[in-house]
Amino acid sequence: MLENRPDNMERINTPELAKAYIADQIEKIKAQVGDKKVLLALSGGVDSSVVAALLIKAIGKQLVCVHVNHGLLRKGEPEQVIKVFRDEMDANLIYVDAVDRFLDKLAGVTDPEQKRKIIGGEFIEVFAEEARKLDGIEFLAQGTIWPDILESEAGIKAHHNAGGLPDDMDFELVEPVRMLFKDEVRVVGKELGLPDNMVYRQPFPGPGLGVRCPGAITRDRLEAVRESDAILREEFAKNGLEGKVWQYFTVVPDFKSTGVKNGKRTFDWPCIIRAINTTDVMEVTVEHLSDELIDHLVNRIISEVPGINRVLFDYTPKPPATVEYE
Ligand code: XMP
Repeated sequence: MLENRPDNMERINTPELAKAYIADQIEKIKAQVGDKKVLLALSGGVDSSVVAALLIKAIGKQLVCVHVNHGLLRKGEPEQVIKVFRDEMDANLIYVDAVDRFLDKLAGVTDPEQKRKIIGGEFIEVFAEEARKLDGIEFLAQGTIWPDILESEAGIKAHHNAGGLPDDMDFELVEPVRMLFKDEVRVVGKELGLPDNMVYRQPFPGPGLGVRCPGAITRDRLEAVRESDAILREEFAKNGLEGKVWQYFTVVPDFKSTGVKNGKRTFDWPCIIRAINTTDVMEVTVEHLSDELIDHLVNRIISEVPGINRVLFDYTPKPPATVEYE
């Protein structure tokens, strides 16, 4: 049932081509699934959101979406998933608040690889628990895209998004964007009526804000990352940089320095701003911001984010620095 991209497939770059792709996939999904139920882990990222919107069009409430809030999402993300999919598209959406569960497991864990393992492992567990509560699910939808297939064939990475589900959970896969490149997924998503800030979203790592809170994650420092990231995104959008700069985010490292506020000594964290451009993520250059924007960002972050008394800018390319801090 899983089709490969035909060699002669036209690049989907117009609304008309997207419409035709959507109509074709709806027919294929209906033929594959019949009257059975399909499960989807809906993160709110571009690929899973487009898969959800396609399946909702094709089979409505036969699709069960599970959105796991692991506490490491950006400000407003879980709310947007609920608004777009449950409220506007009338989807069958299960929202799982697993924030305490993840943060309790991560407490005191400093090793980056260990943090990633815990986040990935716990995600599979929460998702599998939700799946077991449901009756009659025979299919699992995934947001696999064509580069995932190419990379897994080349041995660069294992692409199975839900790889690692327990062996007894033997679902047939539904992968309606499998033949598409990322830019085509965006054109299809736009045609399906998804909001621009979902369709043109910058890359966001699976372990989320967890890798931007280096070392052991604490709730207060994680909140400082989330709030400063929200300010950065808001200011980039206002200043026409959203969609132009490849990736931009804040990091709050686990050390404190002295400062002064309202005549009193403070001892708080710094907030690091990183904004980068790239085409392949192997080599990365830094986006140079205007003096005016730098001043404005510093001002907003130190006055609005509790626990921050300094703002630093990371102007290091990759190599030698990676994009993320861990
Ligand atoms: P690095 O830090 O390796 O990042 O230069 C390159 C790109 O990959 C993203 N990234 C991740 N994405 N899971 C993901 O899904 C991860 O564990 C992960 N680590 C880094 C990073 O945001 C950047 O776009």
